[in-house]
Amino acid sequence: MRGIRSIEDLDLEGRRLLMRVDFNCPLTPDGLVADDTRINLALPTIRLALDAGARLILCSHLGRPAGKNRPELSLHNVGGRLAQLLNAEILFPEDSVGDGPRKLANNLRDGQVMLLENVRFHSGETSNDEQYARSLASLADRYVNDAFGAAHRAHASTVGVPSFFNERAAGLLMAQELQALGGLLRKPERPFVAVVGGAKVASKIGVIENLLGVCDTILVGGAMAYTFLAARGENVGGSRIEKEQFAVADRVLLKADSMGVDLQFPVDHVVANAIQDDADTRICATGDIPADQKGLDIGPETLAAYSEKIQHARTIFWNGPMGVFEMEPFSAGTMGIANAVARSNGKSVVGGGDSAMALRNAGVTPFITHLSSGGGASLEFLEGRELPGIEALRDVKRRSDV
Ligand code: 3PG
Repeated sequence: MRGIRSIEDLDLEGRRLLMRVDFNCPLTPDGLVADDTRINLALPTIRLALDAGARLILCSHLGRPAGKNRPELSLHNVGGRLAQLLNAEILFPEDSVGDGPRKLANNLRDGQVMLLENVRFHSGETSNDEQYARSLASLADRYVNDAFGAAHRAHASTVGVPSFFNERAAGLLMAQELQALGGLLRKPERPFVAVVGGAKVASKIGVIENLLGVCDTILVGGAMAYTFLAARGENVGGSRIEKEQFAVADRVLLKADSMGVDLQFPVDHVVANAIQDDADTRICATGDIPADQKGLDIGPETLAAYSEKIQHARTIFWNGPMGVFEMEPFSAGTMGIANAVARSNGKSVVGGGDSAMALRNAGVTPFITHLSSGGGASLEFLEGRELPGIEALRDVKRRSDV
């Protein structure tokens, strides 16, 4: 974390600390927290701040309310879950700026916690409005960002607010993410194998191109593989392809070749004529998919070959499913990759909601070295971009006094 301080470097005793967390948790239809993983991930940083005697002001987004106060996206119930986990009272001022939060912030005692209402209820959050950022910043005299999952957003709470603080730092989760993902791009132990899946070429092409510079092998799966295979001149039958991405696919194939990277595509496929739970499936080799059939998962031969590569890797990165894994007939490839990554003795880093779900369904999450808390953020980071929320933590002069 060159140029970025850690929360452990800040003097927090008796200080009002504004901490950006990512409490963007899935909710039940009744508005309760359906999965508290993100709250749990923030707990070490929260506990560290409280043990150090900070007066803690937490802020987060939840969903995409588009600048409107939408009660179903209130952080109220998230605060309730946090109170249970911390076994402490959480003050909740029902807005993120204004008199309510200001009074509560001024009266906070050492070790007390308040959670601001969803920052995206104000349009100034997503537009990174200076006035909104100033109001949030005025609540505190220290700033910590532990929301890696939102670090790719140039919003007020991630970019505008830190510019008002000299005393700003990364939280423990943020630091852990930077170390794990940064380690992949710096000096990965070799062989370094990446498994990249998903439906759309456009959403993964940036990562594949950047990983060509660091990986020994890239194993491609998911519907996007058909665009690459078709661009290479293979018959893909009725599989989903993106013709407008052929030029991009060609460029990547050439680049992999010239860089000596082993870029692999499925050699066989689970095919069906419909994407449904009771579909009749069969296995086809690449090139043999009939016109009325679509490839919907990698086949057994591909899974065996990919698993073998993963087994011999010292470093593994996995993002994206190998097929329509939500449906049982097309789930074997993705579940097989989840198990192979978990079984490997190499360092494994996994990003993206679908891959995380596959690991969870396979019951193998504990065997992964690092499961990233950020879907979009981890992809943009591995595209080699500096994320705005991380850049904003670097030590430069602050914009002005609050
Ligand atoms: C996420 O869920 O990936 C982060 O919380 C970011 O949410 P966003 O895509 O709505 O900005």
